[in-house]
Formats: sequence, C-alpha cells, structure tokens
Amino acid sequence: MERPLNVRPIDDPPGITSARTLPAAWYSSADHHERELQSVFRDEWVCVGDVDDMPAPGAWRAISVGGLPVLLVRDREGVLRGFVNVCRHRAAPLCEHGGEGSGAALSCPYHAWLYRLDGTLARAQGVGNPDDFDVADYSLKPVSVSQFRRWVWIHADQTAVAPDFGPLADAIDAFPLESMDVVLAETDERAFNWKVLLENYSENYHTPFIHPEIDTSNTHDYPMVSDGLVLYAWDRPLHPTDEAGRVMAGLLPGEPGWEALAGADTGQPYAVGSYLTMWPNLMLNVFPDAALAMWMEPVAANRTVVHRRLYMRPGGDADARAANIAAHRLVHLQDIDICNAVQTSHDAGVSADGVLATVEERGVYWVHQHVRRAAGAGLQPARRIWGRGTIAETLLEDRGD
Ligand code: FES
Ligand SMILES: [Fe+2]
Repeated sequence: MERPLNVRPIDDPPGITSARTLPAAWYSSADHHERELQSVFRDEWVCVGDVDDMPAPGAWRAISVGGLPVLLVRDREGVLRGFVNVCRHRAAPLCEHGGEGSGAALSCPYHAWLYRLDGTLARAQGVGNPDDFDVADYSLKPVSVSQFRRWVWIHADQTAVAPDFGPLADAIDAFPLESMDVVLAETDERAFNWKVLLENYSENYHTPFIHPEIDTSNTHDYPMVSDGLVLYAWDRPLHPTDEAGRVMAGLLPGEPGWEALAGADTGQPYAVGSYLTMWPNLMLNVFPDAALAMWMEPVAANRTVVHRRLYMRPGGDADARAANIAAHRLVHLQDIDICNAVQTSHDAGVSADGVLATVEERGVYWVHQHVRRAAGAGLQPARRIWGRGTIAETLLEDRGD
C-alpha cells in the first residue's frame, strides 16, 4: 500500500436526501442509449475482459466497445494493442465482429491491403499512384489499452491517460487474484439496460428479499466508500482476527492490518467480502479464496451482454468448488430475474419517480451521479462529477488535489 488511503464512509452523502431515481427513458430510449454509448462507453475507460481471454501472441479478436468496432491484437513479442477495426482503404472490417484470427500479418478481406501486427500498413497491393500516398500515413487507428490487475480496459481515444482507480482499488492489492483459477466462465445476453444491473450490484438493500439464502445478519455492517471511478463496499470483518489476535472489526480498506484479510480463513466468504463497482462496467467481488468479476457490454437500450468469471484459489477440493459455483449461480439468477422485471417497467415507459434509501442506496446514488454527469457534460474527469459540498469534493480537499 503505497498511496495513503484517505476516504471516509458515505453514510449520508449530501444530496442523497433530495435525489430522485432516473427517468424510464434513460433505460429504454434508443436515442438516450446512443448518447450514453458516446458519453460513457466511447469517452471513458471500459473493461473488455480478463487478460486470460485476450488473443495469444500472433492472434487477434474483433470486439465492440460502445458500438466502436475494435480489434485486439497481440504481436509475436506479446504486446497487446487495440485498433479501430476499419481498413484505411474503404472501411472494410479487417475481422468480422466477434471473429478471431492469427498469422504473421492482417490482410483486409476486401482488397488485401496488408497490415503488420503493430497496425502499420505493410503493403497496399494494386493501389497504383494516388497523389501523396505513403503507406506510413495509413496505419490502423489505435485505441488505448490498459490493464488493472487481471482485467483489460480500452479507451477509444488513442491519447487517453491510463485510468487511475485510486486508493480504493489499491485496497485489494493483497488478494492473490492473478494466481486464482477460472472455475466458471459464462456470457449471456440479458434483457435489461446495463445500468439496471450496475445499480443492483451497488446496493445491499435487496439482499434479504431477493437472496433469502444469504445470511444478512450483518447487513448493516456493510460500509461503503467511493472515490472517483470506484465504489467500494465490504463486509465489516466481524470474525477474522489479525496475527496479534485482535478482532478486525471497523477496519477501513487499506488501513494497517487490512492485508491480513487476504489470508483470512473464515469459511464464511460473505463475512469478509470486498465489493467493487468500477465505473462504468466492471463489478468485482473479492474474497480471501475466491473472486467474481462481471463486466457488461451494452448492445441496445434494453439488451446487455454480461460476462462472468468466477475464480478460486488453486488446490481447493472439488466439492468446495462445486458449492461455490452453485451458490454463485443461484444468487446471480436471482439478480437477473429482478433486473429483467425492473426493465419491463422501464420499457413500458413508467418512471418510478422514486427516492433513494439514504444509507442502503448510497451506491446507487454514486451510480446515478456518474450517469447524470455523463448525460449532461460528455467527457469530464470522473473526479469532478460532484458539486460543491459533496463527499467527493471533501475527499479531494483532504488529499490536497
Ligand atoms: S477496404 Fe481494405 S483493402 Fe480495400
Ligand atoms: Fe443481488
């Protein structure tokens, strides 16, 4: 933990008492969705998956980021790059969406212009003598690629500065995510707007009702903090003790002693979980011996592809693994059912005009603040989303930013 942690619980974020829920059209209108693809998914860093799913050396894969066709390419030396998947001649996709390939170079299917794996144009066969034509000017357009732990992020702007998730993301430094095995990898297209699941993930208010199997006796020991791109909630560690035998209750993420959680042996994962919503589309559960990542790809106002990876420490016994998978599936499908149901209301054009629970829905408020900021102002640094007197501004003042 190099950076000082300087966050505080958002028990009563200013503004939440007067907050109202978002209008139905923000979840169902094609126009609003298109604007959101631009202002969020093409103007911000977006998670595109686990590094294990990325192309192997000498291979590529075509994906979509906020509707932008992107080609992920790993060169023979292992460097992963991203390009707009559009040929610099007459705009043919170099690889069909969802497709993949491999080889020494990328050949456009239309007229066979040939690109190196670093995106530069090697040969424009048959092009003749266009005025001022130089292959050096016709490289594929790059996008920015970054990595946080084992997840890869893309920004459509090739000049984007690498994302800074801040100290809340550092708080999971001690958890051995990279050495865990993927024990479940599933992808499903779901019938809801991407924000419906993000909101659902960012609150624990629904847990006793939607997930009756989860022991919620510690529901109100579910602190939550936010800083910029990260909302961090955690089960207050009532049970584990540190090496000195002290009960680790009341710790804030990243405080001295926090790392011991990564090795806590509890047998009760929901007693020591960390839950990160990483704006805009990654949701991450981190437990001492397991983790779950879900990232979303919006495809329409009411269609979202949800990717899930469940990870476990290697060497666990098969029964524990099977039980973890079954428990995850149960909880996930319970969430999917309620998200589907909520979307039917949005699709019917009926706004709830609701309020937010002032403690239990602090995370939903955080999601809405990001959504409203993106809707109103396009691209802005995420840390400037809050108005004067808000929690985040207080955080910035505390840090001297
Ligand atoms: S469009 Fe790619 S070579 Fe013509
Ligand atoms: Fe849930």
